[in-house]
Amino acid sequence: RAVAILRELEEKCAAPAAKLKQVADAMMVEMHAGLASEGGSKLKMIISFVDNLPTGDEDGLFYALDLGGTNFRVLRIQLGGRQGRVAKQEFEEVSIPPHLMVGSSHELFDYIASELAKFVSSEGEGFQLPAGRQRELGFTFSFPVRQTSISSGTLIKWTKGFSIEDTVGQDVVGELTKALERQGVDMRVSALVNDTIGTLAGGRYYDKDVSVAVILGTGTNAAYVERANAIPKWHGLLPKSGEMVINMEWGNFRSSHLPTTEYDNALDSESLNPGEQIYEKLISGMYLGEIVRRVLLKMATEATLFGDKIPPKLEIPFILRYISSTSLKTRKLVVEVCDVVAKRGARLAAAGVAGVLKKLGRDVAPKDGSELQRTVVAMDGGLFEHYTIFSECLESTLKGLLGEEVSSAISIVHANDGSGLGAALLAASHSQYLGES
Ligand code: BG6
Ligand code: GLC
Repeated sequence: RAVAILRELEEKCAAPAAKLKQVADAMMVEMHAGLASEGGSKLKMIISFVDNLPTGDEDGLFYALDLGGTNFRVLRIQLGGRQGRVAKQEFEEVSIPPHLMVGSSHELFDYIASELAKFVSSEGEGFQLPAGRQRELGFTFSFPVRQTSISSGTLIKWTKGFSIEDTVGQDVVGELTKALERQGVDMRVSALVNDTIGTLAGGRYYDKDVSVAVILGTGTNAAYVERANAIPKWHGLLPKSGEMVINMEWGNFRSSHLPTTEYDNALDSESLNPGEQIYEKLISGMYLGEIVRRVLLKMATEATLFGDKIPPKLEIPFILRYISSTSLKTRKLVVEVCDVVAKRGARLAAAGVAGVLKKLGRDVAPKDGSELQRTVVAMDGGLFEHYTIFSECLESTLKGLLGEEVSSAISIVHANDGSGLGAALLAASHSQYLGES
């Protein structure tokens, strides 16, 4: 009976190449719609106000604060300009106390600001701030934000495990700045970026061919460099570079081509945000274990997989991190369930990347016989970094979708903690002291 449940799961989770191509096409269609008008698509295609990516000339001391899904990081970095590149950097990582994810805005921002205050007070040798200057910060805030400038933006909604009603609609830089004042930290927020934008900027610093960034962690999302004149909803001046970085918020993508199961539907309706972030709920780290838990619970209930009694912990939502169980046969079955769920996620993520490359016209060889342009996709996040089955499956699926020739021009790189570096670099290129020596 348990095996029958597994086989049914496999069947429902199947994502053959033909289906993935439909997903990639649908992603591209939604990208166009999201760029055409505000609210035109499930994909928000947020204009980041980043129209220049790092060049390597960035110089001086900058801080970054990276609020992701599970942890947050503070970072300080002494940029050495063209000659020195990164002269020195230090960082600290703190896990976010879960009660703060569902408490009040004031509490969350005070906590972040107080951790940052501690970090700033430990600034030592090797970091130099010219006399009379204020410290500057790049703020990586990994949630959907309607940007109003490079250094301001209002929270559209929370995602992942967060739900704090009074932050929605607020300018998150305003919230952080007020908390910094309360904590006695004199610091200016010079850039507000999503983690995908930070990762793209950090990746570009080391490799000029980076033009797409993907996060696969607690949540999932992508950003890429778009032609500014291909964004009908942008009514501002055309940037000199002719480019604009777009935060897709692809986690909210949905399509009838996505293979879903009864477990996904139940997970969604019992989640903090029913009906939203459907693609994210099929792919990202916060949800994979929870899908597996639901499958195992069914196997335990209907097929006594773990003996006569249902392990009580299996009934607790979001409990599953590590799996250990009784017989080898049972363990093998559990591993198979994990594989099916993870591989579906990886294949769907690959289809998303293929859709972005298609939008950029990088999914086929040029018709005029000219050489394929090299494209680098910078990836980060715990899922990509630590779940080898997932990252290998993603890469091989993408290869299969694009074919040998095109794949030879596409590289996936791991931009380790690129988003903190990227935020600091963008703070540098938007510094209030720019142009002063
Ligand atoms: C980190 C990035 O490496 O990955 C963060 O620096 C990003 O900006 C994070 O939010 C996502 O991964 P996870 O696993 O922490 O959600
Ligand atoms: C969620 C957030 C998004 C973020 C992603 C990865 O999808 O909405 O902003 O980039 O998680 O952290």
